[in-house]
Amino acid sequence: MVFLFNSDAERGAVFRAAFARELPDLEFVEAGDAVPPERVRYLLTWTAPENIDRYRNLEVLFSIGAGVDQFRPGSVPERVKLVRMVEEGIVRMMQEYVALGVLSLHRDMAAYREQQKARVWRARSIRQANERRVGFLGLGMLAQAAIERLAPFQFPLAGWSRSARNLPGVRCFHGTEQLREFLAQTDILVCLLPLTDETRGILDARLFEQLPHGAGLVHVGRGPQLDQQALVAALDAGKLSGAVLDVTDPEPLPQSDPLWSHPKVMLTPHIASVTQPHTAARSVIENIRRHRAGQELIGLVDRTRGY
Ligand code: GLV
Repeated sequence: MVFLFNSDAERGAVFRAAFARELPDLEFVEAGDAVPPERVRYLLTWTAPENIDRYRNLEVLFSIGAGVDQFRPGSVPERVKLVRMVEEGIVRMMQEYVALGVLSLHRDMAAYREQQKARVWRARSIRQANERRVGFLGLGMLAQAAIERLAPFQFPLAGWSRSARNLPGVRCFHGTEQLREFLAQTDILVCLLPLTDETRGILDARLFEQLPHGAGLVHVGRGPQLDQQALVAALDAGKLSGAVLDVTDPEPLPQSDPLWSHPKVMLTPHIASVTQPHTAARSVIENIRRHRAGQELIGLVDRTRGY
């Protein structure tokens, strides 16, 4: 029985050592090593290999990332369980980044960056955190972790999800009918939605219109969820006051894109949250143990929902 690791050698070394220690009976093989495909039971990869059908005894495919939208529809056989990466490194980094983004918008850091460039020493007016409503689009595990990290700052917290959720200390909204009401009371919007057909393009001019005047955006979902032209227009019109973006479409963002130099945009190259090999290896090993024991896998993707 084989675990096939399809990622870079540096991460591979960490996984290999952890597997040797924790699951010595499972053969650990890296892409490029010769192995009869029918022996592969588990596969860890970023995207599905072209010839995935030859792994005819493959039972579980582990995504290296928290997202699974990079797997093209139909590229993973229905009989194979698809699992997204749930590990504490990703969670901790997302908590940090969301806190950084929300606090940067809350404290007007982009404007101070511009003032610094112009050598302007001037205090801007400030709202208190308990008057700045922060709303999450998407209330999955990463959003819940970020909410927990933000709670001590005393921002009024809300969230919107596709189906109903009940989270302590969070005003929860759900479904298309409640989206407008949620947006109308959100001063800083954090997008942590998975990319699906329903969320593609969701951050568009119409959505921005429904936010209070001068709202901010932290986008840590996926690039194709955002209409970048509509964002620039909303920023230029003052409808939105600022945006912190970790994802764009395409990535890398083309050199000529106006987002690079927009004074109200803080941009990072998809680094908000990155899978950490030590903690990731631990979580994959735990999932293999669960799989062998017939227990439910952590991060199992619902193939009809797409996340
Ligand atoms: C990063 O975006 C990931 O999916 O882990």
